[in-house]
Amino acid sequence: MRTPIIAGNWKMNRTIAEAAALVKEMAPRLAAIPGVEKVVCPPFTALSAVKEAIGEADLGLGAQNMYWQESGAFTGEVSPLMLAGLCQYVILGHSERRQFFGETDDGVNLKIVAAFAHGLVPIVCVGESLAQRQAGQTEEWVADQVQAALMGLPADQVRRLIIAYEPIWAIGTGVPATAEDADAVIAGTIRAALAEMYGDEVAQAVRVQYGGSVKPANIADFMARPDVDGALVGGASLNADDFVALVRLTAQAKG
Ligand code: PGA
Repeated sequence: MRTPIIAGNWKMNRTIAEAAALVKEMAPRLAAIPGVEKVVCPPFTALSAVKEAIGEADLGLGAQNMYWQESGAFTGEVSPLMLAGLCQYVILGHSERRQFFGETDDGVNLKIVAAFAHGLVPIVCVGESLAQRQAGQTEEWVADQVQAALMGLPADQVRRLIIAYEPIWAIGTGVPATAEDADAVIAGTIRAALAEMYGDEVAQAVRVQYGGSVKPANIADFMARPDVDGALVGGASLNADDFVALVRLTAQAKG
C-alpha cells in the first residue's frame, strides 16, 4: 500500500548541461519500470533544465534544501515560493546540512511547515553519528529528531511526507548499515515515534527510506524488508546505469 520511492541526491555535483544529459539518459529507461516512484534531486542551478529534460516523463524532481521564508534579505538562500511549481519534493535536514551548515531541528521543523504550505513534499533526513551508535544512543537520538522535525504538524501532512533514515557513518563511506540494523531503526524507532505522535494508522502510511552507501549490489537486502520503502541515494544516483538498476531491483523486491 506504500509505493516505494527511490530518490537520487546529487549533492553538489553536475553542471546544468551534465544534469540535463543525465536525466535524458535515465528517463526513458526508468519509464519502463512500474511500481516505484523515482525522484532526482539535482543542485538548484540545474532544476529548471532538469524539469525541461523530464518533460512528461514519469520522474519526480526535488531540491536538496530551501529556506523557510518566502522572500527577503537572506543572501544565498532559496525559498519555497521559488521551488513551488518547479519541483515536487525537497530534501530537508540532510546530515551534511546539519553538520556543515549548522542546521538545527527547529530550523528543519520550520522548513517542513513551509514546504507543505507551498505544496512541496519534504524528504526529511534523520540519523545518528558513529559515536552515538557506539554509545547506544541511536534510538533516543533518532526518535528525538523525528519528534522535533514534526512538531506541530497535522496528521494529514505527516502521512504525505517521506522520512529518510540515514546513519551518518554510512553516508558516502561505502559501509552501509546492515538491512537488519536499518529495519530495526525504521520499524522499531521511527515508526514507533510516529505511532506515538499520530497513531498507528499514520505511522503505517508514512514512507520511510534508508540512505547511506546504497548500491545496486546491496539494495535488494534493504528492499526485502517490508518497513523499508525505498532509498535516498547519493553516489550511486549519479550515473544512469546504477540509478536504473536501483529502481529495477526495488521493483523486483517489492513487486
Ligand atoms: P551515499 O549518500 O549514497 O553517497 O552514501 C546518501 C545521502 O547522503 O543521501
